[in-house]
Amino acid sequence: MTRLLRDAMSHFATGVTVVTTHFEGQDYGMTCNSFSTVSLEPALVLWSIRKESHSHLAFTQSSGYMVSVLASHQQAVAMQFTHGTQEERFQNVPTERSKTHLFDPHPQIAGAVAWFNCKLEQVVTAGDHDILIGRVLDFGSHDGESLVYSQRQFGVFAPFLNK
Ligand SMILES: Cc1cc2nc3c(=O)[nH]c(=O)nc-3n(C[C@H](O)[C@H](O)[C@H](O)COP(=O)(O)O)c2cc1C
Repeated sequence: MTRLLRDAMSHFATGVTVVTTHFEGQDYGMTCNSFSTVSLEPALVLWSIRKESHSHLAFTQSSGYMVSVLASHQQAVAMQFTHGTQEERFQNVPTERSKTHLFDPHPQIAGAVAWFNCKLEQVVTAGDHDILIGRVLDFGSHDGESLVYSQRQFGVFAPFLNK
């Protein structure tokens, strides 16, 4: 069942993000494609984290998180944030610090096409994941192609050219 469900779900193409948080003096990050918008007024977003994740405590206890939407050339960054120690994940990945969270500056992945700096509003337990609903405090975007994930492969969005 789980395998078939994963196979079916892999057909739903998504963007790719790296979510990060700064918790008790350490940076945490993981690749995430469950990111989604929830509400515009107020501005709310969500993503879900596996309860077994090593960084589950950090993300659920922290004051918030940063979502960096990866650009099409950042496939290596996406892979780097799926495994290894937190120090290894951030190695050679340039980051910037948000100015909104003065005491808790979550790292932002440099070169990302968009970013959302969020305050953690609500944690909803749902099966083997927790849904982290965040209020967007600050955000930005740049021109550029987004990285896309579908059927367990990274790629780029190819729009139809018929006008
Ligand atoms: C494209 C992609 C999207 C992912 N999205 C999520 C996600 O939304 N939530 C999640 O918990 N894990 C997601 N993962 C897996 C985590 O990145 C990975 O399990 C985690 O970083 C492993 O380290 P940990 O056990 O220390 O958390 C995704 C992996 C990939 C390749």
